[in-house]
Amino acid sequence: MSWLKKLFGKTDSSAAHRAQAPASDPSTPAPSTAATAAAPATGAAEASAAVVRAGAPRIAVVTGSTRPGRNNRQVAEWLVARATQRGDASFELVDIADFSLPLLDEAYPAAYGNYAGEHTKAWAAKIAEFDGYVFVTPEYNHSTAPALANALSFLNAEWANKAAGIVGYGSAMGARAVEHLRGVLSELQVAHVQKTGMFSLFSDFEDFSVFKPTDLQAASVDPMLDQLVSWSAAFAQVRAGELEGAAV
Ligand SMILES: Cc1cc2nc3c(=O)[nH]c(=O)nc-3n(C[C@H](O)[C@H](O)[C@H](O)COP(=O)(O)O)c2cc1C
Repeated sequence: MSWLKKLFGKTDSSAAHRAQAPASDPSTPAPSTAATAAAPATGAAEASAAVVRAGAPRIAVVTGSTRPGRNNRQVAEWLVARATQRGDASFELVDIADFSLPLLDEAYPAAYGNYAGEHTKAWAAKIAEFDGYVFVTPEYNHSTAPALANALSFLNAEWANKAAGIVGYGSAMGARAVEHLRGVLSELQVAHVQKTGMFSLFSDFEDFSVFKPTDLQAASVDPMLDQLVSWSAAFAQVRAGELEGAAV
């Protein structure tokens, strides 16, 4: 199938970039790309970042694929650029590829909080910084991407009582990936908002590999972000014990 060749016959610019960088110590992963430093895939990026008030929710845009040649990073960078223009929260790109996570290698379930690996501790420290997350998931085999499921499974308390939005993409706009990811997030006590950002490999990517979202689908992320910013602020109060009956 020619579209499959287009999809998988390219190199991953972000991977190539990392290959040129000095070898990193897995215990101190490269810092995540800050919102203002992200190089977006499309014109949404041309507007400058809005000033965010102190105390505004901190939201991580978490990549979902580490595959060489991945489309994922383009989508995540575009999202950070668009979201940063809102001014009601800060947005930071957190690329799971920067954390060199192996297949889950912790002896104890993450709920014990007894992390042994330096890679786990570094991942936990980064994730703990945020009030909310946007997970950018491709669809793999009618589900979310294995790299994302693995990265989620390393941690527990760091995710709990926080909010999340999801952006999916694939041949069917990632719809099945999004719904499967919701089940995982529920178990981790992440409150996932109802609205989703959705992109089609056929119409939001040029040659299945260059992210050029249609205006219609680009706008699909905005209601998701509206809900996410609101819920991220609310769950910060839950974690602080400020809401009556809140159990953390
Ligand atoms: C192992 C594998 C399974 C896939 N399964 C699906 C699928 O079930 N549904 C779908 O819409 N796309 C599927 N795709 C296509 C991916 O959604 C597409 O390649 C996407 O670009 C993957 O994200 P990435 O490039 O960021 O890794 C699959 C791709 C791979 C590599």
